[in-house]
Amino acid sequence: MKLRLAMIGGGPGAFIGAVHRIAAALDSLYELKAGAFSSDPTKSKAAGELLGLAPDRVYGSYQDLIAQEKARPAAERVQVIAIVTPNHQHFEPARLALESGFDVILDKPMTFSLAEAKQLQTVADASGRLLCLTHTYTGYPMVKQAREMLASNVLGPIRKAYVEYPQGWLSRPEEGGDNKQAAWRTDPAKSGIAGAMGDIGTHAFNLLEYVTGLEVVKLCADINTVVAGRRLDDDGAVLLKLSNGASAVLIATQIAAGEENNVKIRVYGDQGGLEWQQVDANTLQVKWLDKPTEIWRAGTGYVGAAAQHNTRTPSGHPEGYLEAFANLYRNFALCVLARDAGTLPPPEALDYPSIKEGVRGMAFIENVIASGRSTEKWTEFTV
Ligand SMILES: NC(=O)c1ccc[n+]([C@@H]2O[C@H](COP(=O)([O-])OP(=O)(O)OC[C@H]3O[C@@H](n4cnc5c(N)ncnc54)[C@H](O)[C@@H]3O)[C@@H](O)[C@H]2O)c1
Repeated sequence: MKLRLAMIGGGPGAFIGAVHRIAAALDSLYELKAGAFSSDPTKSKAAGELLGLAPDRVYGSYQDLIAQEKARPAAERVQVIAIVTPNHQHFEPARLALESGFDVILDKPMTFSLAEAKQLQTVADASGRLLCLTHTYTGYPMVKQAREMLASNVLGPIRKAYVEYPQGWLSRPEEGGDNKQAAWRTDPAKSGIAGAMGDIGTHAFNLLEYVTGLEVVKLCADINTVVAGRRLDDDGAVLLKLSNGASAVLIATQIAAGEENNVKIRVYGDQGGLEWQQVDANTLQVKWLDKPTEIWRAGTGYVGAAAQHNTRTPSGHPEGYLEAFANLYRNFALCVLARDAGTLPPPEALDYPSIKEGVRGMAFIENVIASGRSTEKWTEFTV
């Protein structure tokens, strides 16, 4: 059975909406039925036409979408609503959707502020609905393999981790031109209190906590605005202490000229370490203190259950960003469908980022910006 899906945002010229639509389509578990694709009703209509939707399922606002879909017969109304608007337009549509009985797929950072995130958690708990937060990088099979290996303690207790997220696309003041994505990301009224740390630092933070299975408990941040006239941070480095006492380093920058999207994580136990990077996503390097480095590959029979569950093609057939995104969609669908059928989902499907990760991501933003402004060396990570 396919879940009936609606989308809020993702109109003409938008970035991530189309990625969500591809991710939803990949495993035939969803069918896009409705949308409010833009805050401009004409643009929303044009997007709906291009997508071949029935005209009466394309709405001029997200409020109309939620109210009118709710009023439709149960067999017809959408079940899941994907929200892919800029950050300041996450909380209200998500709250309304959950309170109206829809399950929600929401992009990161979860909300505009930590206070909103906590409120959304209360709403979600009361609603009994599910929420998936699309932290893409946790969807990769070899990221799941890394998490599984660290959890099994084969590398020994974690002592050190490095997570890096360098981009170069904001090396110039793009927000002064017609780059829509740059304009809202550098506007504190739309992005929130953070720029790069909110946009990509939250992904790095989430990846670090996901792969290590540990939580950040203290931090010491150097936060910079490099491009003259920019109103939010575009570069930063953070020292972190993890819940087992290990130390970590996180960098997130959008002014590393020439870098594309080179997300990378390295984690070391006392017996060895592992390294994964998005540019070679099907490979996990496992390094040993006393023996040669191993190259683990996705799609093979020797990887664990989580990696296998999140791979579609045999080894040597590259799977990438779109498939990682689709893994989030698929796991979420399996959980929603199982709940609706009164059954249990496969255990591997339960592994999608949710409200808890969303609240911690918003806490990261507030803690990292406060630390950057503070004259204290270390500050506690509070939620
Ligand atoms: N998971 C990821 O890897 C990833 C990658 C990129 C962006 N994102 C997140 O996705 C969100 C969108 O980013 P983007 O780069 O696609 O932005 P974008 O500016 O390209 O697209 C935003 C879309 O939302 C629409 N919109 C704005 N307000 C609306 C409203 N009230 N009702 C309906 N539609 C509305 C706009 O018209 C536009 O179509 C952001 O929160 C961003 O942080 C996540």
